[in-house]
Amino acid sequence: MNYSPNSGRYEDVSYRRCGLSGVSLPVLTLGLWHNFGEVDCYSNCRSLVQYAFDRGINHFDLANNYGPPPGSAEETFGRILKNDLSSYRDELLISTKAGYIMWPGPFGDGGSKKYMIASLDQSLRRLGLDYVDIFYSHRYDEETPLEETMEALYQAVQQGKALYVGISNYPPEQTREAVRILRRLNIRCLIHQAKYSMFVRWVEDGLLDVLEAEGLGCIAFSPLAQGLLTDRYLKGIPEDSRAAKEHGFLQEAEVEAKVDTLRRLDQVARRRGQSLAQMALAWVLRDPRVTSALIGVSRVEQLEQNFKALEQLDFDNEELAELEQIL
Ligand SMILES: NC(=O)c1ccc[n+]([C@@H]2O[C@H](COP(=O)([O-])OP(=O)(O)OC[C@H]3O[C@@H](n4cnc5c(N)ncnc54)[C@H](OP(=O)(O)O)[C@@H]3O)[C@@H](O)[C@H]2O)c1
Repeated sequence: MNYSPNSGRYEDVSYRRCGLSGVSLPVLTLGLWHNFGEVDCYSNCRSLVQYAFDRGINHFDLANNYGPPPGSAEETFGRILKNDLSSYRDELLISTKAGYIMWPGPFGDGGSKKYMIASLDQSLRRLGLDYVDIFYSHRYDEETPLEETMEALYQAVQQGKALYVGISNYPPEQTREAVRILRRLNIRCLIHQAKYSMFVRWVEDGLLDVLEAEGLGCIAFSPLAQGLLTDRYLKGIPEDSRAAKEHGFLQEAEVEAKVDTLRRLDQVARRRGQSLAQMALAWVLRDPRVTSALIGVSRVEQLEQNFKALEQLDFDNEELAELEQIL
């Protein structure tokens, strides 16, 4: 069936300026790490992307290795773009990354220019695009001089294959250095993509300060701790959940270790009139330095529910103190 997007799509989501750049991101971004591979159902993938776009979530986050198999999430998204969104390219912000293993041999992993540029070319082919909006170095590679990885990002922009560049999972010091090198090459580092949730808080120990000082945005990935910070696991491990899937990255042991804490957090969420997932999203967005919360979903109802988090983003001091105590 032909897709015709909701004409009111920009009415209910809010957008935050990405650092000191000219670009604004929706406060929720859809990530395609899980649930968009060749192993997943195409019509569900299509419904998720359509629902997101209909609600003004116009930023989609990919990487070369998302699947399984690696590369297949970009192919799925490329197919959806071609079928449904080809007339809306200029309304979309599409990101991809390179940094983790993609193919055998010394040029299929890491931060070398050889790998990064070849990987971006492959991503563009899978996506069916001439350029991506953001190209990221997916991780800091201590075996490659940072200058070389940054030069690869610079070259991607020079060649018109990426509009902006970003880094992901870089420690604060290497972030500062990467920004400095890019500035010397006359390009801006737009954004840092970092893991951040109630359970993973390393960005609070210096990274957010660096990003603010250098004018970068921050996109917080896995804000629901891969689904832990939802009602998914309050009563065991459902068969269709990430923790139960062979290719899922969430371990059963992690679920078991957290279940008591989850139940206590859930009580606070209920008192706020929210689900645990909604509270967890509001919590990462409470810091204005976080430009967008980068979520995953396996079904449209989850996206619909997560969207409602935007109705109640504020916390009072008592709630914050109680959450600190539980965490
Ligand atoms: N830069 C990096 O190194 C890096 C690493 C990891 C991820 N990322 C990016 O971040 C994105 C998000 O990561 P993530 O998928 O781990 O994020 P997440 O939002 O923490 O977890 C997503 C999972 O939570 C569950 N969920 C979501 N909403 C729910 C709801 N309302 N109720 C119940 N369960 C709900 C779903 O689990 P079920 O599937 O079990 O239903 C979903 O797959 C990725 O797609 C990727 O773009 C980047």
